[in-house]
Amino acid sequence: MIIDGKKIAGELRDKIKSDIKKLPNNNKPGLTVILIGEHPASQIYVRNKEKFANEVGINSIVLRFDESISEEDLKNEIKKLNNDSNVHGILVQLPLPKHINQKDIIQTIDPVKDVDGFHPINVGNLSSGNDAMVPCTPLGCYYLIKKVIPNLSGLNAVVIGRSNINGKPMAQLLLKENCTVTIVHSKTKNIEEICKNGDIVIAAVGKAKMVKSDWVKDTAIIIDVGINRIEINGKNKIVGDVDFDDIQDKVKGISPVPGGVGPMTIACLLENTLKAYKKISKRI
Ligand code: GUN
Repeated sequence: MIIDGKKIAGELRDKIKSDIKKLPNNNKPGLTVILIGEHPASQIYVRNKEKFANEVGINSIVLRFDESISEEDLKNEIKKLNNDSNVHGILVQLPLPKHINQKDIIQTIDPVKDVDGFHPINVGNLSSGNDAMVPCTPLGCYYLIKKVIPNLSGLNAVVIGRSNINGKPMAQLLLKENCTVTIVHSKTKNIEEICKNGDIVIAAVGKAKMVKSDWVKDTAIIIDVGINRIEINGKNKIVGDVDFDDIQDKVKGISPVPGGVGPMTIACLLENTLKAYKKISKRI
């Protein structure tokens, strides 16, 4: 079975759109995305975020800055957004130029407006089992998994990759669902053997077509987070971390690339923006 992220994301966006329509006084959540420099993939991601945000009724603004912006100027821009009552969600598109300290920038964002869920307050709340802003990509993966298997209790989940953006929060979400979670990474021994034990395998490493059919069991659900640009027969193609053609007929379910996790990430960003709006409205 192919897990259709495009369709499931569309349903989530419809729900968000309808919830926004019901807000009092025609109020709309506001999302500001900060984009620095000319990173080609970031330009595409940000364009898509803006397009879908406006479609569901979120006021979306993109602030573009030159690659040469200083860390202090960037922090001041974020502080202005923290104090702007029309802005409910703030997202600083990564990667940042090398002269800017990513950790310090993330910590400048008001945690309630941190729709990426990268601020240590949100990271801590997620791992403590408190209400938190959850990073959009693992949240999207979680929704895809729950759509196929509503009760995850006792299942073995293998997360490939230990990044702060994907692997670690993914593991937290699955732990909360009573999965037995194993995180494997570049220094892990016997990755293939560990993956074979997974009822759920989430690949988030950034290595094209790494996961093959003999790595997984027939009953597994595979979620592919990878977005790798490779050249095949002189043409540029986007492929995941999973060898889709090799695996798709073997397993119980697999999310494709593109059309799997990608649209879910954006839908979850919109959901987080609405969540931030609701929290801030209660606070005022
Ligand atoms: N760059 C790639 N993925 C992401 C993401 O989820 N959030 C941000 N802010 N930047 C990214």
